[in-house]
Amino acid sequence: MSSISIFSCIKCRRTYNISEIKYRCDCGDLLEVIHDFKKSIPNAEKWKKSLDNKLNVPSFQRYHEILFPSLPIEKIVTLHEGDTPLYDVSHFFPNFGSLKLKHEGMNPTLSFKDRGMVSGVSWANYLGCKVVICASTGDTSAAMAAYAGHAQEMKGIVLLPHGKISQEQLAQPIASGAKTIGIHTDFDGCMELVQDLTKRHNIYLLNSMNSVRIEGQKAIVIETLHQLSWKVPDWIIIPVGNAGNISALGKGLRELYDVGVINKLPRIAGIQTLNASPLYESYNHNFSDLIPQKAKSTKASAIQIGNPVSYQKAVTEIKHLNGVVDAVSEVELMDWKAQIDRLGISICPNSAVAVAGTMKLQKNNIIKNNEDVIVILTAHGSKFSNTSVEYHKNNHNKYANGINIIKPDLKQLENLIIQ
Ligand code: F0G
Repeated sequence: MSSISIFSCIKCRRTYNISEIKYRCDCGDLLEVIHDFKKSIPNAEKWKKSLDNKLNVPSFQRYHEILFPSLPIEKIVTLHEGDTPLYDVSHFFPNFGSLKLKHEGMNPTLSFKDRGMVSGVSWANYLGCKVVICASTGDTSAAMAAYAGHAQEMKGIVLLPHGKISQEQLAQPIASGAKTIGIHTDFDGCMELVQDLTKRHNIYLLNSMNSVRIEGQKAIVIETLHQLSWKVPDWIIIPVGNAGNISALGKGLRELYDVGVINKLPRIAGIQTLNASPLYESYNHNFSDLIPQKAKSTKASAIQIGNPVSYQKAVTEIKHLNGVVDAVSEVELMDWKAQIDRLGISICPNSAVAVAGTMKLQKNNIIKNNEDVIVILTAHGSKFSNTSVEYHKNNHNKYANGINIIKPDLKQLENLIIQ
């Protein structure tokens, strides 16, 4: 079974057995999972057709042969993640050939992290790991706690930068029964600690530096292309923090192409907030080495990360897909959050970073007027309700829609409503 997949070092290409618990190569670089698709998908056309009979099964099982063929189906711990909507908003934005929003906030724990956790927790379940852990800016911890809670006899532990995540995000691991630890540091500090801890103890690490997580996250792009009947767009745009998701996106596209499911590749754009923009700075210096930053406070708190763990993977994928990296300001991201929210599509500030970046790239003519664009929205607005309330309270904000408070008086009500 496990011979279909191996770990391979992204740098020296040394390989390891997939059933080993291993996050990095002995040389220190990250690992990626390589599958023998000749075995799992011998014929791309037949595989595509076979998906028609699997439309009712959860996404991870549907695309199992390309996502993680060596994970036994009976070990999958699923909360029915996936099948998220792909909203066509082209009519609101005539400056694009087409513009569609893939809303990953419509997953069970309201973020794209469920895609990686179905593979991560299922793999932990297969390996027999009883304790799983992650550092998080809020969404990874929510997903890990929920999936660990749903697995039999699995305990979740989450490390959070104390005071730097939303109340809704904090409520999620607590409610799912995980041991929840707030640490007086930032995400990068939590990430360092969790790596040190898992080197010394038999606790399974479920951050995206564990490459089995990346395998599940490939589903986002695979499902999107399936929804498009495999018609490849010109661009896919994504917000970047720890750089796991952009790596998964690139790997998923590469594999779809290599297997013969698609016959061209889109370009990608990774967008950061200016307050936490190490990838953007590196891109501006021709991808010279990563210079870790002390990430500044940002409304896009889930991507307040100064030292992205999957940096090297991201650079490889961006180069391969002729990609670009851009960054946006706090005002830009919050104004675009408000404009997408009012279309009835509730998004988080991190997703808004990708939307703002898309608009900037279009304005600067990097995205052309006739091009088809997909933006990945990574979490739901409901995880950040306070950010919205604060924005709309302040009349100086361009799209503010503040609450009106009156006495129980018909005249006052009429004054507000009847012009
Ligand atoms: N959007 C949201 C809503 C996120 O929670 C994250 C990352 C990202 C974008 C960036 O994805 O890190 O793969 O580049 N959140 C992690 C967490 C760090 O702990 O929840 P990335």
